[in-house]
Amino acid sequence: MIYRFAQNDLRILLLVKTVLALETSCDETGVAIVREKNSSSGSDLLASEVASQVAAHEKYGGIVPEIASRNHLVYAPRLLNHASSLANIGLSEVDAFAATSGPGLASSLMIGASIAKGLAIGFGKPYLAINHLEGHLLSPFFGSGEKENQICPNVSLIVSGGHTMLVRVHGLDDYKLIGQTVDDAAGEAFDKVAKILGLGYPGGPEIEKHARGGDPNRFDLPRSMPESENFSFSGLKTAVRYLLPKITGRFCETPDEERRLTQTPYKLDGRVLANLCASFQEAVIDVLVRKTIAAAQKYRVDLVTVSGGVSCNRELRKQFEFRNAEPWLCTDNAAMIAFAASLRLQGGFHSDVAEEIDPNLALAK
Ligand code: KG4
Ligand code: ZN
Repeated sequence: MIYRFAQNDLRILLLVKTVLALETSCDETGVAIVREKNSSSGSDLLASEVASQVAAHEKYGGIVPEIASRNHLVYAPRLLNHASSLANIGLSEVDAFAATSGPGLASSLMIGASIAKGLAIGFGKPYLAINHLEGHLLSPFFGSGEKENQICPNVSLIVSGGHTMLVRVHGLDDYKLIGQTVDDAAGEAFDKVAKILGLGYPGGPEIEKHARGGDPNRFDLPRSMPESENFSFSGLKTAVRYLLPKITGRFCETPDEERRLTQTPYKLDGRVLANLCASFQEAVIDVLVRKTIAAAQKYRVDLVTVSGGVSCNRELRKQFEFRNAEPWLCTDNAAMIAFAASLRLQGGFHSDVAEEIDPNLALAK
């Protein structure tokens, strides 16, 4: 899939300085340009543009792949122009083009990958296919300055809308899976519970906002699979669903009524809503923090990194006083893809332009 440069190509690598990346794995269109400073002092972000499609999908209650890919087609060329003028760099001056090649929605991935391949072929520059999860996993190192290109051994927690996984990182391209969710991802649980409560999408920031001032111990919610290195959040979501009729007294007499009512969000009053959001948030964070610390102890590493959309959560960041990605880097963006691509270039990797996107691309075994 990704291979190392032949010896002769290494001369080209020494000149490589600026990377442009596209991120179109789901409903966010991102374009970013990163420039390596030199081999020892990190990278500069010259531009990072993200066009959100939340409004286009909100009314359907989830992402519609066809709408997402059509919007990527509209936004990507605009963001390319915008990023290149912000960075004050013509596309012909870019030294390598990268795109997320998976995991994600096939019809969305195809847009970014096709554009990056076209640019790489057109300008005769290398192309890099980047794993979206590697983008998240490396993002805490971006902007950390000195030795940012030396990824030291760490235990990495990736918590997003589609993934929850713990990975042992030995260095660039050297990842071992510790555990992952067996059902819902942590972000997905936030989104689903927010939907049941009639809060907006994405649910994570909504629940965090309503949890402020709430009592995290008011409702006793389950922590699943405490002894395992894997995660499970589906039971927690179901526990919230079963708790709601007890809190509101809204019980159903018939299966039909039940079906109708489960489509209708529960409206809780301010205090109860705050307590429930805080208790739910705490149940998710408690499991994430406990398992991550247990893994760091087991594998004897003193560095833990946390990335992905859920790591924007302030309570999670407070409980993890480790290396977090900057909040703006946590949710989907192309800067993390450009950064991963830049590290890979420095490490002597590039991809074949014939490389296909892979909606199920794995990060580690
Ligand atoms: O990494 P991301 O932008 O996209 C994926 O790769 O999935 O993550 C999006 C997820 C959503 O499920 C969203 O609800 C969650 O991250 N999220 C949060 C917060 N901000 C975003 N979850 C909890 N608290 C937040 N503040
Ligand atoms: Zn993501």
